[in-house]
Amino acid sequence: MERDEAMTDDSYLMDLWYLAAPGHLLKPGGMIGKVFMELPILLGRRADGTPFAVRDLCPHRGIQLSKGVFDGAHVTCPFHGWQFDTSGHCTNIPSLVDTQSVDTEKIRVRTYPCREVQGNIWIYLSENEPPDTAALPAPFTIPEVGARGYNVSTPLVFQTSMDNAVFGLLDPAHGPYVHRNLLWRQPDNLRQKAKAYEPSPLGFTMVRHPPSSNSVIYRVLGGDRTTEISFCLPGIRLEHVRVGRHHICNLTTITPIDGTRVEVTNFLYWTQNWLTLFTPFLSRFSRKFLAQDQWIIGLQNEGLQFDPKMMLINDADMLQKWYVRLKKEWSASCRQGRAFINPIKPATLHWRT
Ligand code: FES
Ligand SMILES: [Fe+2]
Repeated sequence: MERDEAMTDDSYLMDLWYLAAPGHLLKPGGMIGKVFMELPILLGRRADGTPFAVRDLCPHRGIQLSKGVFDGAHVTCPFHGWQFDTSGHCTNIPSLVDTQSVDTEKIRVRTYPCREVQGNIWIYLSENEPPDTAALPAPFTIPEVGARGYNVSTPLVFQTSMDNAVFGLLDPAHGPYVHRNLLWRQPDNLRQKAKAYEPSPLGFTMVRHPPSSNSVIYRVLGGDRTTEISFCLPGIRLEHVRVGRHHICNLTTITPIDGTRVEVTNFLYWTQNWLTLFTPFLSRFSRKFLAQDQWIIGLQNEGLQFDPKMMLINDADMLQKWYVRLKKEWSASCRQGRAFINPIKPATLHWRT
């Protein structure tokens, strides 16, 4: 048993892609103001459909540009009408008269690399603007679903830190207690499990296996089923169920807003057309599931006000310990300017859930 020692520092992991928004929330010519890692960020979609992200503060007097107007090519500040293109350059200062020259090209808001993959908009959060955005690795992708976008997306804000949210995402033992409903396992129906894990890029993967026989949700899918659950930094979990030649993917991402709030977004992708008939049901299911996590985090917050020490036990909390190790190694590799060396070794973990 380890006390506190396993808990992490509260720093944000930089130089990684974070989920910025489900793509359908941003129409061409639209923009939204977000906060990630305490940074104000304007997320927009150009008239040609491509997304972009810039610092959401006007360099003139600091008002949020997202409170202004966007025409698909330029953002106009609501205060004095300065205009900026989507690469952050100031292109117009309306108050200038002909005899006054300000090199507007030198006035600029910083940009953040932004890409849309399989319906999701990702943002690359780093201390400084990367010199060559084309050289960045691709954001999180599920090869088996190809170009298709998600079928269901459920974004929610949780009142907790990034680390505590990831701990929840990686917690196998809370399922039968927190997600007590017909489609999940009940506390009186726990079974001993042995799960094999392997390291995978920036994380670890529970190797593909037939899913739990005590999960009703899996049984209704029928067919020959296997599941694989992977996790990678900064806080991305993918449950990938193969049913014959089809795929059902349950993706959950966590993006920190600040030290006490995160955006949790759950996405469902599937390749069977008939499942689309059940979209409203699956959407409700996803929302109910996340709401249960939100509820238990709320109860936990009441206890955490008293600043208790916390524990991580073997093996049910091993994944959280691995997350702490991954996080430390990522920070060290960035600090030292070297390649990331995955600290996770293959292992079989045992628990009752
Ligand atoms: S504050 Fe933005 S134009 Fe003045
Ligand atoms: Fe949960």
